[in-house]
Amino acid sequence: MAEVRFDDRVAVVTGAGGGLGREYALLLASRGAKVVINDLGGAFDGTGSGHTAAEQVCQEIKDAGGEAVPNFDSVADWEGASNIIKTAIDTWGKIDILINNAGILRDKSFIKMEMEDYEKVLAVHLNGTFFCSKAAFPHMRENNYGRIISASSGAGVYGNFGQANYAAAKMGIVGLMHVLKQEGAKYNIMANAIVPVAGTRMTATVFPADLLDVLKPQFVAPVVAWACSENCTVSGYTFTAGGGYFSRTAFMEGPGVYFDVKQPITLEMIDENIDKITSLEGAVAIGSATEHAGLILGKMSQG
Ligand SMILES: NC(=O)c1ccc[n+]([C@@H]2O[C@H](COP(=O)([O-])OP(=O)(O)OC[C@H]3O[C@@H](n4cnc5c(N)ncnc54)[C@H](O)[C@@H]3O)[C@@H](O)[C@H]2O)c1
Repeated sequence: MAEVRFDDRVAVVTGAGGGLGREYALLLASRGAKVVINDLGGAFDGTGSGHTAAEQVCQEIKDAGGEAVPNFDSVADWEGASNIIKTAIDTWGKIDILINNAGILRDKSFIKMEMEDYEKVLAVHLNGTFFCSKAAFPHMRENNYGRIISASSGAGVYGNFGQANYAAAKMGIVGLMHVLKQEGAKYNIMANAIVPVAGTRMTATVFPADLLDVLKPQFVAPVVAWACSENCTVSGYTFTAGGGYFSRTAFMEGPGVYFDVKQPITLEMIDENIDKITSLEGAVAIGSATEHAGLILGKMSQG
């Protein structure tokens, strides 16, 4: 099997100073990519900053014979995000790959969550992904090549107690990814998302120590790197990866029921048919809002 390589490709990995981002960067660099190692270098709750994390990962890559430059800007503001992408352009003249990975946590039950906890988490995850993608997209379009993969989360897709802010941001990222897929298709820009499960400082209080050996970030990185490669044939997908498990996660739409609109549609009709309406048996994944509208129109024409 041919080796998947990234020679002459330029990548930006946000939040690459540790955890999953570091692993993504090391893998891409080990296969020939030139990588901007972005990391604000603060604590897991978004406080503080520092240069050590990004510098160390750059050094690791260089020691292994690869090419990397550090960047210490925050993804959470437009100026910082623009500067992250500018670092790639100034250093290597282009950007081919963007991994939106930077993240923080401010967990609290919904009732206790302060507005600041909400705003800070949305700023890093959702705004950060939006800003970095927005800064990278014109360059990708100009080169008719781009791979964007953004970090979502099981908390966003399925919900998790105490993570209302984080879940809202992580599902927002999936929505953004679907639009980038559509707007990028013409320019060979593919956008996907990753739902990772890995032992990092972010999940240090979640996973028991004896699971850390099987939940290494190394076990997530291969599918993220694949989605960044020329071999990637899909866009608009959300991948799940952790502990050796790889799959696709998707919103599915059940077959539902159709009522003729020439008759009144009553509350009781919903009540009587609620099991059928909510059944996911025979559910399908849908590629766009247009396709979704087409599906509804198709049901009407069959009715
Ligand atoms: N570890 C998991 O199981 C898991 C599960 C679901 C989602 N995720 C997501 O994966 C991504 C990576 O998480 P991780 O587990 O490696 O955590 P991590 O804390 O080890 O890594 C996150 C990195 O982002 C950096 N960062 C934070 N704010 C930043 C900012 N404003 N600008 C630039 N960099 C910033 C941090 O300094 C840190 O190095 C996150 O988006 C996270 O939400 C992780």
